[in-house]
Amino acid sequence: MGLFLSKVMTLENINNNGFSERLIGILNNGALSLMISIGHKTGLFDTLSKFSSPETSEHIAKTAKLDERYVKEWLACMVVGKLIEYDSSNQKYYLPLEHSEYLARSAGLNNIAVFFQYISPLGNVEDKIVECFKNGGGISHSEYPMFQQLQDEETSRVFDSRLLADIIPLVKGLTSQLKSGISVLDVGCGRGHALNLMAESFPNGKLYGYDASKEGIEAAREESRQKGLSNVFFEIKDVSSFDEPSKFEFVTAFGSLHGQSKPTKVLQAIHKSLKNNGIFLMRDIASSSNLQENKDNLMAPTLYTFSTMHSMAVSLAFDDGEEGLGSMWGKQKAEQKLREAGFEENIEVYEVPGDILNYYYVARKP
Ligand SMILES: C[S@@+](CC[C@H](N)C(=O)[O-])C[C@H]1O[C@@H](n2cnc3c(N)ncnc32)[C@H](O)[C@@H]1O
Repeated sequence: MGLFLSKVMTLENINNNGFSERLIGILNNGALSLMISIGHKTGLFDTLSKFSSPETSEHIAKTAKLDERYVKEWLACMVVGKLIEYDSSNQKYYLPLEHSEYLARSAGLNNIAVFFQYISPLGNVEDKIVECFKNGGGISHSEYPMFQQLQDEETSRVFDSRLLADIIPLVKGLTSQLKSGISVLDVGCGRGHALNLMAESFPNGKLYGYDASKEGIEAAREESRQKGLSNVFFEIKDVSSFDEPSKFEFVTAFGSLHGQSKPTKVLQAIHKSLKNNGIFLMRDIASSSNLQENKDNLMAPTLYTFSTMHSMAVSLAFDDGEEGLGSMWGKQKAEQKLREAGFEENIEVYEVPGDILNYYYVARKP
């Protein structure tokens, strides 16, 4: 290790403005990302957040019902990564409150640990992505077996705290329209939590959810069964070829546009499926279509990675018509594509507090 450090010092001496240290920092943070994900999945951050004083690794492992040897090594990593504090005099560990506020599940929308779970599934497809760099093409959704579940965990938190209170009210008068009973479609509904919440709150409406994922639709149906809902209908359907003219008053697409192989067709189909004066609400990644403007976006390196290794790759997995938008297609392009699909010139774009990743676009069919 001493030799390794002196090598870094040597690089510093050739005046690289700390770039070598930055690279080592990135390597460390990449490794820490996997360990933060483990801390989330094992519930270790949750366990630690409940202790009011420092505890031994034995006590932490016992409380979390985990193997102490692994917990001790993980704690060591968290200590040197400066996420957890350590008292060497009694070998006890402590998660400061100002850290648990972003790492424990009790943090709600402030929990950032949830995003670290995406890193390892992306690592699983790394070699396939390298092949795509050489030969073009893409990777099918089935290569990301955890994604439906991860996506659901990430977005359900937002829907639970924001959908009815903040997101639907973005459209003036929509809540009362929903109460009176209108026809709603959620495009790319995944595990259907958003739609089930709406169906529960607006029993007079008829709500439909389409997704190509069998796993997603089965989970959505199961949730609606458990809630005892009879006004929500989930179907396995490829939304790039649905043709249901003037059927819905309100259509949503929560994060499901940027990964489409044929987003133009999907937007046209959505426009066609709306009745006159219908509303389309689209949630998609908050970014600019101009790379230069994304340099100050705190999440941009992560989002371009997710794009390359998931959203763009899945959209390029089909033989024909793929556009490969990628997650970072950005506001300007989104607005342009909405207008080209036939929506009114004036598209409203909102941010919702606590949803750090997304813009909300409100587009109207004339
Ligand atoms: C990022 S996830 C969002 C899921 C859900 N809306 C949410 O917010 O949790 C995108 C979803 O779009 C679905 N999807 C992608 N392309 C599709 C297509 N052509 N037809 C139907 N569903 C599609 C995926 O299966 C996935 O469930």
